[in-house]
Amino acid sequence: MDVKEIERLIKISRERPLMPETYIPWQLEPEPDDIFLPEILTSLQGLEIYDTLTPTQKLELGRHELVQVIASYAWGECLFCVFMTRHLITLPADNVEHQFLLRELIEEFRHQEMFAQAIAKLGGKPIKQSRAHKFFGEFSNKYLPADYLFMGSISVELVTDVYGNYARKSPNIYPVLKKMFDLHNIEEGRHILFTKSLLKTYSAKAGYIKRTLYSYVILFNILFVRTMYVKREIYERIGLENPDEAYRQASRNFKQKFADKCLGDIIEFVNEWKGFNNLTRWAWQFWLGAKV
Ligand SMILES: [Fe+2]
Ligand SMILES: [Fe+2]
Repeated sequence: MDVKEIERLIKISRERPLMPETYIPWQLEPEPDDIFLPEILTSLQGLEIYDTLTPTQKLELGRHELVQVIASYAWGECLFCVFMTRHLITLPADNVEHQFLLRELIEEFRHQEMFAQAIAKLGGKPIKQSRAHKFFGEFSNKYLPADYLFMGSISVELVTDVYGNYARKSPNIYPVLKKMFDLHNIEEGRHILFTKSLLKTYSAKAGYIKRTLYSYVILFNILFVRTMYVKREIYERIGLENPDEAYRQASRNFKQKFADKCLGDIIEFVNEWKGFNNLTRWAWQFWLGAKV
């Protein structure tokens, strides 16, 4: 791990904190033309059903799906905070990793509060995680070793970073959400640099089997996140006649879009330490639709 680099990241975090309370213009209400999620990231865009929706239904779809995305982030970050806290106890206080993780925890807790506030501002009703998500999330958090959990965290951070970039660069996104994604992008950028530096030590030592396992951990984390975004209940809420059929088509549609738009950085990262091999490549293609 590059200690000088991590110390630099800690210094920025301490000296230039971004407070959601003041950084985000919470007082602004959405204008009639504002959207909540770029169309390209909604699960139905690209399907014939999408063209049959009224403008209000499209707007509502974006609102519900955005709420689902940020509620999923918040839940995932909360789980990761549980792990970081446990991990912190094992590290001496003068250790640079210890110091960075404290900054990361502080920032992640602020993010969770920010997401919850944004959900309240949008009048959102997040749909609870499925039993499978809850089980796998809690199980892996409790039993996987630290290097695997950091692999999982960086994969989610890299993917959500791309997602946030689409949202914050969309010209008519509701300003509260734009600033929320700006803040998250800046701070997650530092978390990514730290975790990459930390994982360099692990992946350099890893042989074929370990690299294969790392690759699977990343794959399942991404699959985990992606399947939390598309929810049948949302199609009911926007008044679709056949929500089951919409859900079936949307899942397939979103899988492809996610593969095309959101996996570039993570594929590059896995490639850096040769995480694609005969045992992993097919799974990335099959489960994620990735072109690897
Ligand atoms: Fe975060
Ligand atoms: Fe983070």
